[in-house]
Amino acid sequence: MKNRTYTPADRFLMGLDQALQTLFGHPRVTERPNPAAQLPETDLSEEQRDRTARMMRINHTGEICAQALYQGQALTARLPAVRESMERSAQEENDHLAWCERRLRELNNRKSLLNPIWYAGSFTIGAAAGLAGDKWSLGFVAETEHQVCAHLEDHLGRIPLDDQKSRAIIQQMKEDELHHATLALEGGGAKLPGPIKLAMKLSSKVMTRSVYWL
Ligand SMILES: [Fe+2]
Ligand SMILES: [Fe+2]
Repeated sequence: MKNRTYTPADRFLMGLDQALQTLFGHPRVTERPNPAAQLPETDLSEEQRDRTARMMRINHTGEICAQALYQGQALTARLPAVRESMERSAQEENDHLAWCERRLRELNNRKSLLNPIWYAGSFTIGAAAGLAGDKWSLGFVAETEHQVCAHLEDHLGRIPLDDQKSRAIIQQMKEDELHHATLALEGGGAKLPGPIKLAMKLSSKVMTRSVYWL
């Protein structure tokens, strides 16, 4: 498969298929079990359940964005080594996506209606990062993952301690994101300029605020 050359039309259709799978289907996951699977369900108050579900919805959309970023980057990354090293990370993001989606259902909530918009935006940003060159694109992954870790830590501080299932998922995600960041830095990721980091923080703020409601 890897040696095959694809035409731009092939690539476009494959990308479209991947986008639809990510947004509406069941993307391919790894062999890893859902960290919440063996943990007991808890009795949350209506208000606690709603608030937690909205946080899981944000995390779910975050994973949609992660997929889109990786897919956009894979399209434009120059070194095949970069593509390959990101493939496993991207697949682990699919685990996160599946775990968050399942937890959302268990908490009687739904995915964000804004997912297609956030997918499109993140895909474009990922492709642009890939075009800027591999060291920037890897640096972008590392910075994104570090910001996601901080955000997940914040959620861990707000999700009820009794909700072991949600917490186990977030905890595992946090470990994975940190690992993805380390891989990207080891792969030659550059440190991003301050204004770019700030712009990333601002856009993720817009995402989390909007997805909390929609
Ligand atoms: Fe993730
Ligand atoms: Fe990640």
